Amino acid sequence: MDKLRIKGGTRLEGQIRVSGAKNSALPAMAASLLTSDEVILENLPFVNDIFTTRRLLRELGASVEFQDDHSARLQAQKILSHEAPYDLVKTMRASVLVLGPLLARTGKARVSLPGGCAIGARPINLHIQGFQKLGASVRTEHGYVEASAERLVGAEIVFDKITVTGTENLMMAASLAEGKTVLQNAAREPEIVDLAEMLKDMGAKIEGAGSPTITIEGVRELRGTKHRVIPDRIESGTFLIAGAITDGSLEITDCTPGHLASVIQQLRDAGSKIDVRADRMSISQNGGLRAADVVTKEYPGFATDMQAQYMALMTQASGTSVITENIFENRFMHASELMRMGADIRIDGARAIVTGKARLSGATVIASDLRASASLVVAGLVAEGTTLIDRVYHLDRGYEKIEEKLRSVGAQIERLK
Ligand code: EPZ
Repeated sequence: MDKLRIKGGTRLEGQIRVSGAKNSALPAMAASLLTSDEVILENLPFVNDIFTTRRLLRELGASVEFQDDHSARLQAQKILSHEAPYDLVKTMRASVLVLGPLLARTGKARVSLPGGCAIGARPINLHIQGFQKLGASVRTEHGYVEASAERLVGAEIVFDKITVTGTENLMMAASLAEGKTVLQNAAREPEIVDLAEMLKDMGAKIEGAGSPTITIEGVRELRGTKHRVIPDRIESGTFLIAGAITDGSLEITDCTPGHLASVIQQLRDAGSKIDVRADRMSISQNGGLRAADVVTKEYPGFATDMQAQYMALMTQASGTSVITENIFENRFMHASELMRMGADIRIDGARAIVTGKARLSGATVIASDLRASASLVVAGLVAEGTTLIDRVYHLDRGYEKIEEKLRSVGAQIERLK
C-alpha cells in the first residue's frame, strides 16, 4: 500500500491547477446509461473513483474509453446486466447512482446496499422512497436493493432531508418517466446544476436545478451529448487551505471561485487574503491566522467535504474555534490523528473545539477517509519533521496526483510505493 512522506515547513508558492470535479463526473458517467448514443465527457479527473465507475459501467455492458486528454467516450448501446455488485459498491458508495438510470431505461435494477462507512451510517432510504413515489416496486433482499417498474410515472417527491446523490438519482430517473416530477427540498450543489445541464443537452426537460424545487418533464428518449465536467470545488478549497496553512502565496487556476463563496468568506474571516477572478483565485496571508468558528451546511453553506482540512488549518490559528459538523454524524476521525501530531482538539458530540496555535510535529498517521486524508496532508505541510501518511488509497479516490501538484509549488512530499 502506498504511503505519503511529507517534510513540513516549506511555504507554498506558485500556481496550481484544479482537475474536474469527482462528484460531478460520477453522476455524469452514470447518466451515460440513460441513452444508447455515445456520450463524451471532458475534464474528467483521473482518480480511483472514476476508474471504479468505468469498471461498473463496463460490467453493465457499456463501452468506456478514456483518452490521455482527460476525456472519455461512453456508450451503453445495450444494457447487459442490471446489477451493481457488492464488490464495487463497497469500495464506492456512489455506485448507487446507476440505480436511477438503469431503472428508468430498462425497468429494473439491482444494486448492493452500501452499508455504513467511516463518516456515518449513510442510508439510501430517501433514494428508495423517491423511486417508490415514481411507481417503482422496491424491495431489499440479501443485502441488495431490487427495483422494477414498467415505466416510471412522474410524481411530487419531498425529500425529508437534503441529499446530493438522492437528488441526482431521482433527477436522472425522472428524465425518462412519464409526465411531470417535482423534487422538493432538493440539493442545490453545483454538481446538481452540472448534471442538469448535461441532461438538458441530452434532451431532458429540467427547470429549477440549483434551487430547492426542481421540475422535470419526462421524455421518451434521451440522446448523446458532449459535456465538460465543472472544476472540483473541494480540491480548489483544499489548495486554498494548503496555501493558508503554510503562510504561502498560491494562485489556483482552472477553478470556479463562485462555487466556493462560503469557503472563501470563512478563510477571509480567518485572516487570509484571497483575490478572485473568473476562473482563478490567489491566496496569501495578511499576518497570522485567527480562529473562526464554522458550521457545515448543505450548499451554499460551508461544505462538510472541507471540514477536515479546515480543522487542520484551525490548529494553526491563534485562539479557540468551534467546528460544528451538521451533515454526517461521525466525521471527526481525523481529529485523533491531528492530536497525535500535537493538535489541541476536544470533541463534544457534533462539535470540535480546536485551540491554537499548536506546535505540530510529524508522526505516522492513518487516513480514514478521503477528506480526512487531505487534512493530514495539509497538517503535514506545517508539521516539524516528517509525517508519514498511511492508507493513501483514500486520497487517491478523489485527488489526482496531489503529491505532484503540491511538489510543483514547493512542498516536500513524495509517494512511497
Ligand atoms: C455526497 O454524498 C457527496 N458524494 C459526498 O462527498 C458529500 O460529503 C455529501 O454529498 C454531502 O455534501 C458524492 O457526490 C458522490 P447526502 P451523498 O445524501 O449524496 C443523509 C467526498 O468526500 N441521508 O447528501 O451520499 C446522509 O446520511 C464525499 O467527496 C439519509 O439519511 O450525501 C447524510 O447525513 C463523501 N438518507 C445526509 O443525508 C438518504 O437516503 C446528506 O447525505 C440519503 C442521505
